[in-house]
Amino acid sequence: GGTYVVTGSASGMGAAVAKSLCGEGHTVIGVDLRDADVVADLSTPHGRQKAAEEVLAKTGGKLDGAVLAAGMGPTKGRERMITEVNVLGVTDLLTAWRPALAAADKAKVVVFGSNSTTVTPLVPRGAIRRLINGDTVGATRQILRRRGVTAPVAYAASKIAVTQWVRWQGTKPEWAGAGIRINVIAPGPVMTPLLQAQLDSPQAKAVTSFPVPVREFGTPEQLAAWVMTMLSPAADFMAGTIITVDGGTEALMRTRDW
Ligand code: NAI
Repeated sequence: GGTYVVTGSASGMGAAVAKSLCGEGHTVIGVDLRDADVVADLSTPHGRQKAAEEVLAKTGGKLDGAVLAAGMGPTKGRERMITEVNVLGVTDLLTAWRPALAAADKAKVVVFGSNSTTVTPLVPRGAIRRLINGDTVGATRQILRRRGVTAPVAYAASKIAVTQWVRWQGTKPEWAGAGIRINVIAPGPVMTPLLQAQLDSPQAKAVTSFPVPVREFGTPEQLAAWVMTMLSPAADFMAGTIITVDGGTEALMRTRDW
């Protein structure tokens, strides 16, 4: 088997992916705030550096794949932290792990985006540009200056930024050209502690009023199955692609009447 790193391995979809990888006989290095091989807080520069270094120390210099599932939902009052974890918690780690990924044969990387990147209105472009360039302070300042809801906007901005970073960086010579396949999975509502926290919050209506054509939430196992395909040789000819698995919301909201 190969060696894979999974962030957010303690819960939800990251846990489901880690379980599937272990089931196929691979070695999994889990990264999370707790219950993980590498315990680190990806919302701080120190925590990200710790995660980057401790994972590399455990790999022996070669990584067959990485799944970046650690993330925060649109929690009110946590706008800055959302951008730190969801953007830098991906880009800083992948940048540090790139040589180890390049050392493997056709390494695969899967980053968790969200279908909210395409269906959340009025996300300021300047904030997205700042996030892609790593300026979480400036981006958050711009988002908080707006009236009305800011956490869903920070969340969508973070997921748009990390998705665009994958498409921009991932197709460069250092990534796709160095044998690394990096793609994005964009889930809709999937029944995990992250979604449950939103359903239990005063903002629950923002979730339940969102139309899901198949009329049910996804399961972590369904999403893990798609991630496993994106880690398999089936993804050898796939780079910078976004796979949306969302019960039809994106199609419903972004297809016009002919
Ligand atoms: P979850 O809450 O079950 O798992 C996320 C994991 O990330 C947790 O174990 C948590 O401890 C970890 N994490 C959070 N902040 C961290 C930090 N500062 N440092 C280290 N680890 C941290 O969530 P779920 O639903 O499995 O989400 C996985 C990914 O999928 C996330 O990136 C999320 O944004 C994304 N997503 C989830 C959707 C859903 O409906 N559940 C929809 C679209 C995207």
